[in-house]
Amino acid sequence: MIRNILLSALCILPSLVSAGNYSNPLKANNAGDPNIVYENGWYYLMSTTGADLQMTRAHTLDGLKQGERKQVFKDSTPSRCCNVWAPEMHKVEGAWHIYYAAGAGGDEQHAHVIKGGSSPWDAFTYLGQMRPDWSIDGTLLTIANKNYFVYSGRDTDGVQSLFIAPMTGAATSGQRSLLAKPTQSWETNGFGVNEGPFALYHGGRTWLTFSASFCGTAQYSLGLLTYNGGDPLQQGSWTKSNGPVFKSADGNYGPGHNSFFTSPDGSQIWNVYHATNNSNGSCGGDRYANALIVNWKSDGTPDFGVPPEVGAVLPGPKGE
Ligand SMILES: *[C@@H]1O[C@H](CO)[C@@H](O)[C@H](O)[C@H]1NC(C)=O
Ligand SMILES: *[C@@H]1O[C@H](CO)[C@@H](O)[C@H](O)[C@H]1NC(C)=O
Ligand SMILES: *[C@@H]1O[C@H](CO)[C@@H](O)[C@H](O)[C@H]1NC(C)=O
Repeated sequence: MIRNILLSALCILPSLVSAGNYSNPLKANNAGDPNIVYENGWYYLMSTTGADLQMTRAHTLDGLKQGERKQVFKDSTPSRCCNVWAPEMHKVEGAWHIYYAAGAGGDEQHAHVIKGGSSPWDAFTYLGQMRPDWSIDGTLLTIANKNYFVYSGRDTDGVQSLFIAPMTGAATSGQRSLLAKPTQSWETNGFGVNEGPFALYHGGRTWLTFSASFCGTAQYSLGLLTYNGGDPLQQGSWTKSNGPVFKSADGNYGPGHNSFFTSPDGSQIWNVYHATNNSNGSCGGDRYANALIVNWKSDGTPDFGVPPEVGAVLPGPKGE
């Protein structure tokens, strides 16, 4: 009996991921467009479920796999009942807000926002629609203490591009300007798409990552816009990378639609992204959520590395 207990303990020990280590995926399915924030001892994870807004929380990154989950919001209003995509948690004026896209179930989609409290786990209520135009994947960009709403919209020719608008409140934004359009070959696999923007701040510099190409291709990947100073609303203030900065590797296809979070000790930035094991890429529920540390090159620019094989045990965020 004792021997059996000892044996089974020995057998499971090597497969246990100790506190401080983690492995991907953090969420195995319905995990497109993942977003993680860390605050006061908790990691919070959201991703696209399609029908509602759900949140998972845990004290460790690896713990998100078995974390506490709840539905944060579900809307029966017909114009925003359906196609609920890309939730992102942002703290604005001391309160957590979740920006997301939704529509009536057809092609028309709009960015919306719900407002919560001082913790992401607090209750949320509907606040408003961010944009009058077709808009998905909204995010916040802050430059010189000014907030901008950056999102994926449709240019006058219908091409899905990135737009930027000055924010006039947590739920309101001004006139849009074109920020980036898919023009290079790596951005036009399937068809041209620029979507899923997210701000990255480090060493006094600012970038926006974004996702390029159609999600239903293995070439779906991350591109990088570097802010060069000047008016953020001007396309000329930004330089686009000449190729993807993060792409398919080691059985992970179409890694993209990322966000970033800061480690508990504040010293590291982590990339959160989805990928699929379908070699054709995927836009569906077979996308899983992953995290990977961002490293920094000697010139101060980000090194996103390559998506590690599913199940690889890696050191977790510092200070966990
Ligand atoms: C993390 O995993 C490595 C192997 O990848 C192992 O050597 C190390 O002891 C683990 N750390 C903890 C805190 O369990
Ligand atoms: C992909 O992942 C799914 C879900 O985990 C699994 O059932 C399937 O066998 C995997 N396919 C491949 C090719 O690894
Ligand atoms: C990828 O697409 C091709 C062509 O449509 C299809 O034959 C194949 O089964 C697909 N593979 C997977 C893994 O879905």
